[in-house]
Amino acid sequence: MLKVGIVGVRGLSTIAGFHALKDVEVTALCDLDDALLRNQKEKYGIPHAYRIFDDMLESDIDAVVIGTPMQCHVPQAIAALQAGKHVLSEVTAGVTMDELWWLIENVEQSGKVYMMAENYCYMPDNQLVLSLVRAGILGDVYYGEGEYLHNLQSLMTYNYGAHQNGKTSWRKYWQMGKHGAYYPTHSIGPVMQWFEGDRIESVSCFGSGRHCDFDLRQEDTTVTMCRLASGKLARVRLDAVSPRPHQMTYYSIQGTKGVVESSRVAGQESKIWVKDMDPSVDEAKWRSLAEFKEYLPKRYLDATEDQRNSGHGGGDFFIVEDFVKAITEGIHPTVDVYQACEWTAVALLSELSITNRSRTMDMPHFRKNMPYEEQIIRL
Ligand SMILES: NC(=O)c1ccc[n+]([C@@H]2O[C@H](COP(=O)([O-])OP(=O)(O)OC[C@H]3O[C@@H](n4cnc5c(N)ncnc54)[C@H](O)[C@@H]3O)[C@@H](O)[C@H]2O)c1
Repeated sequence: MLKVGIVGVRGLSTIAGFHALKDVEVTALCDLDDALLRNQKEKYGIPHAYRIFDDMLESDIDAVVIGTPMQCHVPQAIAALQAGKHVLSEVTAGVTMDELWWLIENVEQSGKVYMMAENYCYMPDNQLVLSLVRAGILGDVYYGEGEYLHNLQSLMTYNYGAHQNGKTSWRKYWQMGKHGAYYPTHSIGPVMQWFEGDRIESVSCFGSGRHCDFDLRQEDTTVTMCRLASGKLARVRLDAVSPRPHQMTYYSIQGTKGVVESSRVAGQESKIWVKDMDPSVDEAKWRSLAEFKEYLPKRYLDATEDQRNSGHGGGDFFIVEDFVKAITEGIHPTVDVYQACEWTAVALLSELSITNRSRTMDMPHFRKNMPYEEQIIRL
């Protein structure tokens, strides 16, 4: 039986996934908010509850899910790895470049599984596109886009969900108080999955300036260009300030033989055009991406009611399943520590870029046994 502890229990987006798996049990929850902790313990029937993370680490759990604010991720991941626990961490992996290197060193030294829970990679449409890319339907893909347009201002104060105390939340500083694309992984993650085997080589970030809220360091909109080692291009737009309807899952991917684009309107269906099916570009017509549904991975097509109900069309179940399989069967984590650090570093380099007239920042080549001399940021 694999025993799991979860720290930061407001969302608990992974708990349904763990419950739907055999031979896995969530045995412990941890949160500083005592009332929330008690409620969640009772609601889900979890045997143990801790306010102090180190106390939970002293229990007999095998793995930890980190669902606390972004600035807690690396310190808690390191403590967990040093205590011999596997780690599934919420996004982003960390908040400084040095932290990312500490994280890598600790993952390598511990030999434990570390996976970043980038759940947008697991969304059915994004998995479908991954299969289309792998099957060569879009040809050689060379340009991708991801956008996260989510006005977060109402989350800067704890007046939502279980938090109703009017205090300032971490998002005011660690998200809205930052320059650049502080939260890029939902956007760049799926796109980099489609550019399988490639890596981000440089980052430049451009901003629109501040027009809506002058109390925030965050510009109203930022666009971050990521040049890949192959010379291909990925564009990330982040907007957490502009008054507009949310659209957190806009993507596009262009290849030599086809293109897929999400709707600009959240919730509406994605479109695809494939040259082999419709050779004249002058009269090219979009088809619904749903017409290619048979390309979804088999486990998505065969998903049970329980699995689908765990969230994001089954994605929240499969992410947990892959983490557990990484521990029990040794499969490679879907988003390993090196990808987690590269995707997170888009945020950290975009901050340096946008505050230096959009200068291009070189992405370190995150990999196993990365030499110490390379652990710097080059312009
Ligand atoms: N993947 C997604 O789609 C998605 C969605 C929302 C949030 N997130 C991520 O989840 C994380 C949490 O976000 P949230 O919106 O739930 O934040 P939140 O502030 O609403 O909740 C965080 C919880 O962590 C607890 N906490 C804080 N520090 C702690 C500590 N040291 N020890 C124990 N408990 C502690 C708080 O009491 C709180 O209950 C963030 O990293 C965020 O980026 C991801």
